[in-house]
Amino acid sequence: MKVAVMGYGTVGSGVVEVIESHKKSITARTGGEMLEVKHILDLREFPGDPHSDMFTKDFNDILTDDEVKVVAETMGGVNPAFDFTMKLLKAGKSVVTSNKELVAQKGLELLKAAKDNGVNYLFEASVGGGIPIIRPMSQCLAANNVEGIAGILNGTTNFILTKMIEDGMTFEDALKLAQDNGYAEKDPTADIEGFDACRKVCILASLAFGKHVYPNQVNAEGITRITLEDVSYISDANGVIKLLGQIKSIDDDHIAAFVSPAVVFNGSQLASVNGVFNAILVRGDAVGDVCFYGQGAGKEATASAVVADMVDSAIHTERRRNFGWGDGSESYVVDEKAVLSMPFYVRAKSSQSAVMSALGNVKFLKRVGQPSDEVAFITDSMTQNELVDKLDGIDVINIIKVTNY
Ligand code: HSE
Repeated sequence: MKVAVMGYGTVGSGVVEVIESHKKSITARTGGEMLEVKHILDLREFPGDPHSDMFTKDFNDILTDDEVKVVAETMGGVNPAFDFTMKLLKAGKSVVTSNKELVAQKGLELLKAAKDNGVNYLFEASVGGGIPIIRPMSQCLAANNVEGIAGILNGTTNFILTKMIEDGMTFEDALKLAQDNGYAEKDPTADIEGFDACRKVCILASLAFGKHVYPNQVNAEGITRITLEDVSYISDANGVIKLLGQIKSIDDDHIAAFVSPAVVFNGSQLASVNGVFNAILVRGDAVGDVCFYGQGAGKEATASAVVADMVDSAIHTERRRNFGWGDGSESYVVDEKAVLSMPFYVRAKSSQSAVMSALGNVKFLKRVGQPSDEVAFITDSMTQNELVDKLDGIDVINIIKVTNY
């Protein structure tokens, strides 16, 4: 079967490599059908690349080629990926993607177009890189009501936090190292401000609860305000800081979905997920907690998930019926700050007595080199809005949610 790849960046070039290096196993899994890359779409030049006969700058070469049945979209971004994908689906070609931005923004429309045209739109690589999560969620866990999901969904930020926690490295040095290793997005803002994790939360929430969740409905806070001081206090509480995407069922018509740094206590399955690794913990009413763990970023890991979707599409030339969700609504995602009660970590320029008169009993934390006018503590459970009200008049430096996963 002839296939095409759109976007020859880290993931796209990995897809071509995996198809070429795994011919035997891929052919065995497709039942004898060999995947053969016929076109690679990219506007850039790749002098010396051995695939020069496959490169094209014209999308129509793929669209109008009747031999090409499956296309991998690894361009990233919404435009022109949306337009290209829509045209391909309407032309009866299956599309597989690692593009979480596109699935989070336009998944509903693209899944509908795939359905209407009897082809597949598959996106296993869009969440968790190489970790199988989309299929397990939509198939193996299908009998469960999902109560909640908590995930370390961004490899770059987990790598940075791990370097800060384990090596005392500064945020800037750790980010540079993540970029050098090819983990970070082109613009690292998407990683460090939590936007990349936010898109993955949208996809997981849409899949788990059956209604589309858009990125602008999800509060996203990144890790740029986390300092080595916070790391040190939280280690005194026997925990670590992780950037978590969290989704919680509220009632039949509402969910909470948000991205934020979170205190995870040692002993949690999520606490020991380090470096570029991701983990997604799904809490189902029948199965209990299930945790999916593996490489959430990186060329080969992500490419392996894209190629798996290509194999799936080559086997199921007719549309798979189990992927899809319905429309959401503006009020569907609630503001977790107003609704969810939990403990919080707080660091402030203040005194223990001022904190106790504002909040009652809290658990105070210590660190080496702690200034006499700085306090850090873990509160009882309350909503974030209640906490902020109670802290009125206190010079707060940082507030971090504490998770119960
Ligand atoms: N920049 C992303 C990450 C790549 O670090 O997780 C995978 O989505």
